[in-house]
Amino acid sequence: MRITLTALQKMAHEGNRITQLTCYDASFASLLEGAGVETLLIGDSLGNVLQGHESTLPVRLRDIVYHTECVARGAKRAFIIGDMPFGTFQVSPQDTFRNAAEIMAAGAHMVKLEGGRPMLETVRFLTDRGIPVCGHLGLTPQSVNQMGGYKVQGRQQSDAERLLEEAQLLEEAGAGMIVLEAIPAALAKQITAAVRGPTIGIGAGVDCHGQVLVLHDMLDIYPGKKAKFVKNYMRPGGTIQAAVELFVKEVKAKTFPGPEHSF
Ligand code: KIV
Repeated sequence: MRITLTALQKMAHEGNRITQLTCYDASFASLLEGAGVETLLIGDSLGNVLQGHESTLPVRLRDIVYHTECVARGAKRAFIIGDMPFGTFQVSPQDTFRNAAEIMAAGAHMVKLEGGRPMLETVRFLTDRGIPVCGHLGLTPQSVNQMGGYKVQGRQQSDAERLLEEAQLLEEAGAGMIVLEAIPAALAKQITAAVRGPTIGIGAGVDCHGQVLVLHDMLDIYPGKKAKFVKNYMRPGGTIQAAVELFVKEVKAKTFPGPEHSF
């Protein structure tokens, strides 16, 4: 049976950790859900790990649509989330709806978009019209040029307060899930306690409702620089199947991420 957003929200409510990995093709989709991963994200990280770009900015809507179609063919059970590429949602809510609808038609069950307060009207517009939205706060890679690099966010009191407020506002606007990237673990814990969730952390400590990693990072395939929050699961796992199963086991047991992967 297909995992639904309602089921994921129930898991968050009951304290059962949610696992998420990025996924870009049918074979991995089948393997990942077979290993127990509940949610698959067709992340715009494909710009880095598949296309070889230095950032996610060159990713196009057609790329996410194509890879979502591939994942949807391979995943019979997992909840599928398609990332909205740079430039496809910083437009009018109507144009954003058209772009998000392409991703939904490709097989996604939810779209993800980066940003807080400036996105509220758009989140409301999409969710009112049947498109579930996952927010993304903290380190938002599409804003790398604005942020001056890939840096931990929310260390200053004023930034932490803004992120907490934006998480609550996103949820009020209809967001059904929020990714928290590269923020202090204590702040992610505070946000997680203040929203219904689920919150899905990446470099946000162990107290989020779930955890996500970029597949090519945790399998140690990506040749680029690794963030502190990445754990290489191939080393202990030995095979891809075992690596993914170990990730699932550690997230469920709340032993990943450890302090060494958190800020
Ligand atoms: O694009 C992506 O893979 C992401 C995750 C890092 C959350 O947004």
